[in-house]
Amino acid sequence: MHGKAFSKPDDAPAWVLDFENPYLRGIHAPTATETTSDACPTIAGELPTDLEGALVRNGPNANVPPSNLYHWFDGDGMVHGVYFRNGQARYRSRWIRTRGLAAEARASESLWPGVMGPFDTQRSDGYIKDTANTDLVWHHGNLLALWYLCGTPYRIDPLSLDTLGPEDFGGALGSTVSAHPKVDPRTGELVYFTLSDFEPPFMRYGVVSREGELVHEIPIDLPGPRAPHDITITEHHSILHDFPFFHDTTVLREHGYRVARFHRDLPTRFGVIPRRGDADRLRWFEFEPGYVLHMVNAWEDGDWIVMDGCLQPDPGIRRRKEEGELASMLGYLRINSHLHRWRMNLRTGQTSEEALDDLNVEFPLPDTERYGEHTRFSYLHHLPADAYTVDFRALVKYDHESGASTRYDYPTGWFGGEAPFAPRRNSASEDDGYVISLMTHGEELRSECWIFDAREIERGPVARIALPQRVPSGFHAKWITNAQLRNEPKSPSDRD
Ligand SMILES: [Fe+2]
Repeated sequence: MHGKAFSKPDDAPAWVLDFENPYLRGIHAPTATETTSDACPTIAGELPTDLEGALVRNGPNANVPPSNLYHWFDGDGMVHGVYFRNGQARYRSRWIRTRGLAAEARASESLWPGVMGPFDTQRSDGYIKDTANTDLVWHHGNLLALWYLCGTPYRIDPLSLDTLGPEDFGGALGSTVSAHPKVDPRTGELVYFTLSDFEPPFMRYGVVSREGELVHEIPIDLPGPRAPHDITITEHHSILHDFPFFHDTTVLREHGYRVARFHRDLPTRFGVIPRRGDADRLRWFEFEPGYVLHMVNAWEDGDWIVMDGCLQPDPGIRRRKEEGELASMLGYLRINSHLHRWRMNLRTGQTSEEALDDLNVEFPLPDTERYGEHTRFSYLHHLPADAYTVDFRALVKYDHESGASTRYDYPTGWFGGEAPFAPRRNSASEDDGYVISLMTHGEELRSECWIFDAREIERGPVARIALPQRVPSGFHAKWITNAQLRNEPKSPSDRD
C-alpha cells in the first residue's frame, strides 16, 4: 500500500521479509553489511577543499530478527562515517559492538524485547538491550556512543569506527549515562544526566573533566520517574529537564509495558544548577506543560538564561485505528513540535516563553562548538507530523534573532538525516561553513552525502557524494574536525 518505499533493499538481511513492519523496510531497513571505501566519487557540484574532518552518524541497525513488535528505536547501533580531506571523501560503517550485540550474535537470536515490550523488569542484565544506537559526542579525544534510555558509553575509534570498549571515566562512573551529554567547548567538560525507573534518585547529574575524570555527581530529587531526553548548558550553569510526559512505572512493573502519558495538570520544569553545584543550589523554573526531545542551545544574557528548543505542546501517541497492531508504534513516532524559546531570570525568578515559529521541526543543531554561548543560527529538519513513518523531508535553517527561516525541500524520493554544521577552514562567522546530510532515496534505495553552504542552504547542495552502501535512516550526527581526529589539544584558536 505504500509502494516501493517499503520494499526490501537488496543489502538488507533476508529475515526482514518475515515482518510486515515499515521500520524494517525501505529507507529504514537495516543493512547486513559493514563497508569501507577510500574513494567516494563526487557526482554533482564540487567537493569544497576547505572542508576537512568527518561526519559521523549513529542509528539503529538490527543484527538479528526482533522477538517482539519492532520499533525504530530498537536496532543495534551502527556508526557511519564520511571523511573529507583535500576535496576527497572516504566512507566507512561499523556496528557498535555492545555487550548486547555480542550476546545475541553468539545466540543467533534476539535475547531482549524492544521498547514496545513486554519486559521482564526483574532481569539483572537490563530489561531492554542497551544498543548505544542514539548519540555521538566527542570528549577527551574520544568518540562516545550513547543510548537514549541511559546506558553504557562506548568508545569508538573515530577513524576505523571499531568499538574500543565501555567508557567508565577511570572506573569512577557508577551509573549509566543518557544520550545527549553536552561537552562545553570552552572548558572541555562533559555534562551528563542519567535516569532511574524505579528507585530514587530518579535522576543523577554529573560532570567529567576535560582530562576524562569524573569530578562531580549528585542525586537530583524528582517527584517520580521521568523521561527527559536532553540536557543543556550555559557558560556557568547546567539546565535539567522535567516534563509532564512520562511513563507509568506501576504499569511497567506489573504488566511490563512502557506506557507514556501526558499530565496536562503538571508544569514543565527546568532546573538550573551551577556547573559543579550541589543539589541545594538547584533552582526549578516552571512553564506550560509539554515535552521536548531536543534543545537547540542555551546561553546567559545578563541575569537571564535563554533556551531554544523544539517543543511538543501536546505530546502523545497519534494512533490511527486502520494501522492495526502497528498503530501504537507508528503513533509514538509522529512528532509535532515547533521552535520555542524559554527565558529564566536568575535574579528575580521571572520566566517567559514564546513560540518562535510554527513549522514542524526536530533534530536541531547549532554549531556545537558554540554550545552554551549565544548562537544565532540552527539547522533542523522538517518532519511532517502526518507522515506514515519518520521522514526528514526538508532541511531548515533558522535565524533565532529574527525568527526567519530558509529551507530546502528535498527532491521527491529523497530523505535526509540530522545535519551538523562543519566550519570551513578559516571560518570567519557563525554560519561560515557547511551543513551535511546523509541522504537516501526511498525507491532507488541508495545513499549519497549532500553538502550545503550553510549561508544559503535554500540553493541546494554544493556537492553530492555517492556512497558505496545504503545508509539506513538514523538518529544523531556529529562533526569532528581534523584537529580532533589527530587528537591535537584544543586551543582557543581552534575556532579561527
Ligand atoms: Fe536524541
